[in-house]
Amino acid sequence: MVKVAPSLLSADFSILEKELQLIEKTAAEWLHFDIMDGHFVPNLTFGPLIVSSLRPKTNLFFDVHLMVENPDFYIKPFAQAGAQLLTVHQEACTHLHRIVHAIKEEGLKAGVSLNPATPPQFLDYLLEDLDLVLVMSVNPGFPSQSFLPAVLPKIRYFSEKKKERGLSYEIQVDGGINEKTAPLVIQAGATVLVTGSAFFEHASPNKYVEALKLFSIEKKKV
Ligand code: DX5
Ligand code: ZN
Repeated sequence: MVKVAPSLLSADFSILEKELQLIEKTAAEWLHFDIMDGHFVPNLTFGPLIVSSLRPKTNLFFDVHLMVENPDFYIKPFAQAGAQLLTVHQEACTHLHRIVHAIKEEGLKAGVSLNPATPPQFLDYLLEDLDLVLVMSVNPGFPSQSFLPAVLPKIRYFSEKKKERGLSYEIQVDGGINEKTAPLVIQAGATVLVTGSAFFEHASPNKYVEALKLFSIEKKKV
């Protein structure tokens, strides 16, 4: 069944613990942290402090999406803060293979993200080393953007490569996920859905997460 990763970016930061409790009442398994540095993307968010302050309050899996330049500077701080998976952007890494292995040496799972305009073939020589591939379905930087259907073939590409090579990496999709777009990405092979604005704006986040999960059960029946 597809995993769901609500993105804290769309939460109300003045009541962060309450927002965490809201997520915990749903069937979502992961918590997605969007880290932005104002250089790699034109927006600033937060750093390891927020991750470490939430760590003792939940058992959710901590999924940290680094939208930063020089991601190698931040591996240790986020590992110490309690991250369990660190995802870096291919576009921000000169030595991607080295960074992926530096993340693993800290005992974390390693993911690589691709912007919408980056071809999937960039990861051909690295797939065996990855725990997760993140296909961005919006240009990173902001919540509430519209899903870009042009990335669907990229999700299918990673799904086919996974089968061909007998690999087990997760295929995560991030940006513009809602009840309309989730079935499309699940059909293409997504295994983890990040969802920010649609989760926090929904009248019943609980029902919303169940609906996303149901799409993956329906896919199996097809
Ligand atoms: C975009 C971030 C996303 C974003 C998703 O740069 O990486 O995680 O918060 O938000 P929605 O679901 O609103 O597109
Ligand atoms: Zn993200």
